[in-house]
Amino acid sequence: MSFELIRLSDPVDHRAELAVDVRHGLGRRPKRLPSKWFYDDRGSALFEQITELPEYYLTRAETEILRARADEIVATVAPDEIVELGSGSSTKTRMLLEAMRRTGTGCRYAAIDVSEGALKDAGSSLVDDYPWLEVEGVLGDLGRDLPRVPRHGRRLVIFLGSTVGNLAPRDRPAFFRTIREGLEADDAFLLGVDLVKDEATMVAAYDDAAGVSAAFNRNVLVVINRTLDADLPIDAFEHVTRWVPGASAMVQSLRATRRVTARIGALDLEVSLAEGEEIHTEWSCKFTEEHLADELDDAGLTIERWWTDVGDRFGLALIR
Ligand code: SAH
Ligand code: TRP
Repeated sequence: MSFELIRLSDPVDHRAELAVDVRHGLGRRPKRLPSKWFYDDRGSALFEQITELPEYYLTRAETEILRARADEIVATVAPDEIVELGSGSSTKTRMLLEAMRRTGTGCRYAAIDVSEGALKDAGSSLVDDYPWLEVEGVLGDLGRDLPRVPRHGRRLVIFLGSTVGNLAPRDRPAFFRTIREGLEADDAFLLGVDLVKDEATMVAAYDDAAGVSAAFNRNVLVVINRTLDADLPIDAFEHVTRWVPGASAMVQSLRATRRVTARIGALDLEVSLAEGEEIHTEWSCKFTEEHLADELDDAGLTIERWWTDVGDRFGLALIR
């Protein structure tokens, strides 16, 4: 039917927000950068490659569950619209959209993502393939902008790929409360989470043999160099991933392999790292059904249905 791109932030805001995050995140110890800055066009393409790696089981496991349950989910909720947080390529979403078409409930899909390239690519191929679908791509922040997406009837909010695990653990309670506040009586929230499992399997998923995860992790430095006129030496940083049981998370960082000094031109800032110093770049928190149910309960949300893949690697929760 149509594709429309809505900008909740303009490119200047985008740059200003990165500037604040870099000044704050690299000016402290330990250093850290928010993971949403991975996703320029190259970062989004690298993430798509990650989803196809033999070690990265998450996407295949979640696809398996959605293939089996999409009809049941859509029949249970009967949504007028699907609103997705962090939609990326919207590939798995197609199963839910097709189920919505079969069930004949709604014909609207709104996708919120920080990556303009991903939104445009996904949006144009969706309207090509589904002429009956009205698609809105919302360029914005998934933690902040859901309340600003205009509502058109009963809503199924979806958040796939275990991206909820990329929020800092201390930010999750406020995030779940925002979700709760945005849901009306018959709405529902569909959440995909990666499950705690043996350490070797989780480590391999974030440290693949082909080095795509490493390139993806380092891409945040490429984005900073380009956007903020900086000269961070990309090849002086190595990709590090480790299981942190206390946080139930795979934690990704970039470690300086030598002493580094760099200039962030746009900030008139000099940054230095000692050899071996790390920049924290990503949380990938892993869940159990019980842990997730407790956190949701604290926000006034309840798991109504819970499905896993055959290997119990990944969980999908239908929440109200
Ligand atoms: N849902 C897809 C993509 C997951 S990757 C899947 O399951 O495969 C995470 C996606 O969230 C990327 O498309 C990235 O651009 C987006 N993203 C990450 N942080 C974000 C933020 N803070 N606000 C909006 N989008 C964000
Ligand atoms: N959302 C993805 C995840 O947590 C992001 C990701 C996959 C990632 N592989 C990575 C982030 C490697 C940094 C490095 O599973």
